[in-house]
Amino acid sequence: MCGIIGYTGPLSARKILLEGLSQLEYRGYDSAGIACVEDGAAVRVTKTTGKVAELKKLCQNDREETHCGIGHTRWATHGGVTRENAHPHQAGRVTLIHNGIIENYHQLTKEYHLEGKLVSQTDSEVAAWVLDSLYDGDPKAAIRRFVEKLEGSYGFCILFADRPGEIYAIRRVSPLVAAYTRAGSIIASDLTALIPYTKKYMVVPEDQIVKLTPYQVRVFDLDGRETQPEILEVNWDTDAAMKNGFPHFMLKEIHEQPEALKNTILPRISKGMPDFSDDGIPDEVFKQCSQVHIVACGTAMHAGMVARALMEPLLRVPVSVSIASEFRYEDPLIDEKTLTIIISQSGETIDTLAAMRLAKEAGSKTLAVVNVKGSTIARESDFVLYTHAGPEIAVASTKAYSVQLAALYLIICRMAYVRGKMSGEESAAFVKDLLDVIPAMEAMIRRKEEIRQMVRPLVEKPDAFFIGRNLDYAFSLEGALKLKEISYIHADAYAAGELKHGTIALISDEVPVIAIATQERIFAKSISNVREVKARGAYVILITKESAQADENLADVHIHIPDVHDRFTVFPIAVVLQLIAYYASLLKGLDVDQPRNLAKSVTVE
Ligand code: AGP
Repeated sequence: MCGIIGYTGPLSARKILLEGLSQLEYRGYDSAGIACVEDGAAVRVTKTTGKVAELKKLCQNDREETHCGIGHTRWATHGGVTRENAHPHQAGRVTLIHNGIIENYHQLTKEYHLEGKLVSQTDSEVAAWVLDSLYDGDPKAAIRRFVEKLEGSYGFCILFADRPGEIYAIRRVSPLVAAYTRAGSIIASDLTALIPYTKKYMVVPEDQIVKLTPYQVRVFDLDGRETQPEILEVNWDTDAAMKNGFPHFMLKEIHEQPEALKNTILPRISKGMPDFSDDGIPDEVFKQCSQVHIVACGTAMHAGMVARALMEPLLRVPVSVSIASEFRYEDPLIDEKTLTIIISQSGETIDTLAAMRLAKEAGSKTLAVVNVKGSTIARESDFVLYTHAGPEIAVASTKAYSVQLAALYLIICRMAYVRGKMSGEESAAFVKDLLDVIPAMEAMIRRKEEIRQMVRPLVEKPDAFFIGRNLDYAFSLEGALKLKEISYIHADAYAAGELKHGTIALISDEVPVIAIATQERIFAKSISNVREVKARGAYVILITKESAQADENLADVHIHIPDVHDRFTVFPIAVVLQLIAYYASLLKGLDVDQPRNLAKSVTVE
């Protein structure tokens, strides 16, 4: 959940670290710090609570030249948000930054008699002291003994006081990427910090030691043998990770959706049909399975809910959707005829990764829908379908959701075709309908001002409900999550028919209801539910298709989306729901891109 960066080379390390931390801030923003090797060898730590901007202020008068250092933005796990708990941590000759959780830090505290030494409440400082006590001048040997002692997940970047100009790193689960560039050697938790300097990078292999010097990046296994990790290349540039004139990343990413959809769909269409030959996914994967588990967290899980609502009736195979953090404890039924579809933008969400490993162990084939190339989930899954959304920086997921849906729709179509549930013609018509959503999304983005106006009454209220039936219910879940995570308005989604079984007691003129009714076969029933909440005084925002026949006095605001096929309404609806959340946050004067308590990648359980 934290952002990590390390640099050694001819340029100013302080400048590179601070700029890199700004790029990585979306990974965590409780506190930030850097450690720079100054004056030959002294390691100087500067850290503070708050955002990277605070750290920059603290550093603005630092004139000392520095060419080697490490930096960190924190999302608190162990210990509150205090300066002491911020990284880097120093212990004797060791200065380190850490992303992850050391689960056995209590035992280590006792084993190494650290009680009187610790100045923070963090597991990371315990790790620093353990490493210092194992260090006898040979960094690789010390790191080898160090990781034998650790339980949990970690990405560490380490400076040893007697090794100026060198940075050591090791990871288990938590991500790290590294590169040697003309500007020096650089390592980070995320590519966004690397792309200003290079497009070529390596994913640091788990349990291997990385040594960065100004001249090279070398990698060793735990037996000391040098290894040669594969060099990958990113296909996006710095522009993709900048706001480019938009006030917020979230708004920019909402606007990028039509293009991202084209990038995800078009390369996979051959003769009008979805085709995964270039992705290396054989049709047998789809033909042979007798059940499908979809596993993901948050927004990605909501994309899975939409897929399930379409998949099961079409394919006539059991399809379940699980929250990844619950999956393991559900003791799921898995066998070698199970297909597990894993959905993750980052490809690093720890619960999703753990669920995927469990499914694989139990014999399931795994197919991952992932945005970040080379991420752990992508590497470990049997098959990967990359979405091509480019970097998503805003914590609230927008374009990642729509491309996940696009990828899932392609899977559904191919699966239905190879299982004989759709003819070639029907599949081609499905793909055509899918492509029609692109202009529909563009149309909704153009209407953003209308949505901004409509949101005003919402922001004065503490609660909101989203209601819908069937597919519309699946969309509502995402609408409620978006609204609560960035506007802090308490929002819940309900299957519209379920309201009468308790929740309607909460409806009053103080509670706005966003009702989604885009499915023709249940339209009348959904509208009855809208009448029920209206009769109880709710301020109703109704979203229907253009052609839907609804009494104009039924709702306070009625938003029409273009007339796409019922199966595909999620795409324009997603834009509306994202814009509702965006403007609610904006009108409340909140931090749209970095809402409180959150981080972009959830790499701790
Ligand atoms: C929603 O806006 C969030 N960013 C969050 O729910 C996110 O979708 C979830 O944490 C899963 O992340 P992933 O797709 O990177 O696995």
